[in-house]
Amino acid sequence: MKKIIIIGSGLAGAMVAYYLKNQVEITIITKGSKEDSNSMRAQGGVAAVLDSKDNFNSHINDTLSAGVNHNNRLSVEYLVKEGPEVIKELMAQGMQFDCDESGNLEFGLEGAHSFPRIIHAGGDCTGKKLTGFVQGLIKNSVEWIEFAQAYDWVIENNCVTGVRYFDRNQEVKIIQGDYFIIASGGIGQLFDFTTNHQTITGDGIAMMARIGGKLSDMAFLQFHPSLLSIDDVQPILISEAVRGAGAKLIDESGNQIMKGQHPLGDLAPRDIVSRLVFEALKQGRKVFLDISSVENFQLKFPFISNYLDKWDVPYRKDSKIPIRPGMHFMMGGIETDLNGRTSINNLYAVGEVACTGAHGANRLASNSLLEILAFGKAAANSILQDEKQASINKSTSIMTRTPNQLILPNRQELIARVSSTLGIVRRKPEIDVLVEWLSGFQFQSIPIDESCSKKIELANLCLVADLIARAALARKESLGAHYIILEENNEFSCK
Ligand code: SIN
Repeated sequence: MKKIIIIGSGLAGAMVAYYLKNQVEITIITKGSKEDSNSMRAQGGVAAVLDSKDNFNSHINDTLSAGVNHNNRLSVEYLVKEGPEVIKELMAQGMQFDCDESGNLEFGLEGAHSFPRIIHAGGDCTGKKLTGFVQGLIKNSVEWIEFAQAYDWVIENNCVTGVRYFDRNQEVKIIQGDYFIIASGGIGQLFDFTTNHQTITGDGIAMMARIGGKLSDMAFLQFHPSLLSIDDVQPILISEAVRGAGAKLIDESGNQIMKGQHPLGDLAPRDIVSRLVFEALKQGRKVFLDISSVENFQLKFPFISNYLDKWDVPYRKDSKIPIRPGMHFMMGGIETDLNGRTSINNLYAVGEVACTGAHGANRLASNSLLEILAFGKAAANSILQDEKQASINKSTSIMTRTPNQLILPNRQELIARVSSTLGIVRRKPEIDVLVEWLSGFQFQSIPIDESCSKKIELANLCLVADLIARAALARKESLGAHYIILEENNEFSCK
């Protein structure tokens, strides 16, 4: 039986496992517990053409338009057409999405969609319900290794044959396999204000970079316009579905931030809304979501309202939720084909860590869970059909291990520098300074005898920061979520 090792406990790994179960041996290694992932936090639902009045072309065009046509069209078509099939399969297995009184699926609207096609589960708890459901389907078919930090590959005869990881006791262990699925999520913890779980530190991307695997679109990071912003309170996402249900972005004087700015108003593509909120904040204004016209807010958004109540946010009195943008999603990552295959034989990537090209320069709302469903199935099928290939591609340079010691910056300083340099508005001279500063450290490869998992995590953060910064410098024009000012004296303006 083929032996499959999955790195990451979110929906991506679980979906691949679901389609592989009973046909191969599966182990999932994850840095935290089964519950620790970005998937579990996803509020906005799954965008899918499931209403007879909707159509594939409309969803394809919305995806391309939000992605500024930087998308891989074949990936977009696959995503849009295959995703609904997987949703139907999961519903046939018992997955329950929110329905109206007649038992029909309820469809919500989110940014840059021209049709209400977002399905939810438990209101704003879609990721938790869906990931929990799929984890339930695989529970008897998978061996879990929790609190285990994968950090390097075992390479024999020019072929990846295993993963080195620190177990929960910080002991180095090796697990061997035939195929490896990287499903470890993005890079959110590189930024000081993010929706991402604390375990999300770019580990999969760094592991791939260290063996010369192809990455792409690393410059494109999505900043979500609305994270709860209260001093000393852990930010959470205030879902775009709240704006889809009628909320407006306003400043403290009640002026609407999006008025006259874009034909879609508050539901313009995320990159555009985030820049306008950023500009308002930079002018010293405060920004809120005005939820006065959202009906049944507590019923529709139980997670958000419980959290606001827990922190005594007076939204029940004034209908205002204080927000600011934060790091949310990486469009780029490990380059894959339509089957999740990477440039390295027997390594696959699925979910946010992967760059299928479906999202282009700016992801359309609620397309990320859909991407996992469609491409997770494709990756599993590809593995089942594959005749195992023997070696890493010849062009690959293998440089994972070094006798040199790691030389690393202070983590807080790294995060502060990255947050101010690679955020919503980027300035070339500042990125140059960041790259120069990073060049003073050693994080490219992992010392043979390194025994500290926290140091390796920091080395991974440095490596992905360096990769993003260099990718941002290489893109001399703004596109989608990558907004760059090339000259020192030019000022940022959304106009
Ligand atoms: C949201 O609920 O606003 C986020 C959904 C997504 O990231 O697509």
